Order: sequence, then C-alpha cells, then structure tokens
Amino acid sequence: MDRKMERTFVAVKPDAVQRGLIGEIIKRFERKGFKIIGLKMMQVDEATAKKHYAEHVGKPFFDNLISFITSGPIVAMVLKGIDVVEQSRHLMGVTDPRQANAGTIRGDYAQIMERNVVHGSDSVESAEREIAIFFEESELATSWHRDTRKWISQSKFENNV
Ligand code: RTP
Ligand code: MG
Repeated sequence: MDRKMERTFVAVKPDAVQRGLIGEIIKRFERKGFKIIGLKMMQVDEATAKKHYAEHVGKPFFDNLISFITSGPIVAMVLKGIDVVEQSRHLMGVTDPRQANAGTIRGDYAQIMERNVVHGSDSVESAEREIAIFFEESELATSWHRDTRKWISQSKFENNV
C-alpha cells in the first residue's frame, strides 16, 4: 500500500477540441476525484511541441505528430492525486484506440492512433518535465483542497492530500 501523491500533465488534443469533447474529457478526470490545479486553453507552437515530444524525434510519425498537435488549440491541465500518473493513463486507455478498452477515453471517443484525443504523461519524471514546459509554477493553484477529499483520497493514514 505505497500510495504516492503525484502530479501529472494532461492535454485535450486538437481533434477533441474541434469535436467539442473538452468537457467530456475533463469530466473523466474530475469525477475520478483528481484535483485540477492547472487549466488553460492554448495554441502550441512548433518549438514547444518538439520539446514536449522530444522522445519521439526521428521516428516516422514525428513530423505528423508535431503538425497535428500544433494544428489547433489544446486544453492543458495539471492534475494532482494518488498515483495520478498511472491512474490517468488507465482512464485514457492505450495509445491505439483500437486496443483501448471500452469505458476509457480513447476507447470511447477515438478510432485511430493519430487522432487519439488526449495526452497524459507516462512517468513522474515526464510529468514534471512536461508541466514545466506548459505552465509557470505561479499559474498553478497549489494551495486549495477539495472539500470532498476525505471521501476520495484521504484515509486516516493520509492527511496531506
Ligand atoms: P501521448 O504521449 O500523446 O499521451 O501518447 P502515448 O504516450 O500513449 O503514446 P506515445 O508513444 O508517447 O506517442 C505519442 C503520440 O504519437 C502518436 N503515435 N503514432 N503511427 C505510430 O506508430 C504512432 N505511434 C505514436 C500517437 O498519436 C501518440 O499519442
Ligand atoms: Mg507519450
């Protein structure tokens, strides 16, 4: 029972913004009980996109990925919660929507890998790296508590949520 309070970076991708799915996607994370501590709509420029997806430089899909993620606005978010990096990835479903379980975001709203509607960091290290790319620390609402936390993420052993 090694539960860790973490932060992650999530983005509603341009395809989902165009399709009117911003609310649907944010809702999935919000109703899970994660605390939203950063939220903004923004247009990603090419340099920022390349920094964000640096791990994929040189891969055959890289150029298309960069032009897709810069093709329209995204909604960038920082979430806080117990093991939020892994739990968010579970809510999102796997990269290829054809394999994503029904009930996950990608399973419910996407058909192809190149239009998979949502991004989520894949490790705590990536999360902190990505948060720093998209947000200033001063933009984050770090000091509020959800009043429901004792029903969601705070047992008698955890009082720092
Ligand atoms: P993301 O970073 O966007 O949350 O997606 P992910 O972790 O599930 O997948 P990742 O391996 O990081 O790939 C980033 C995005 O690149 C596109 N992709 N296309 N055609 C391909 O083989 C391929 N592989 C990856 C996907 O849009 C994926 O979300
Ligand atoms: Mg990734």
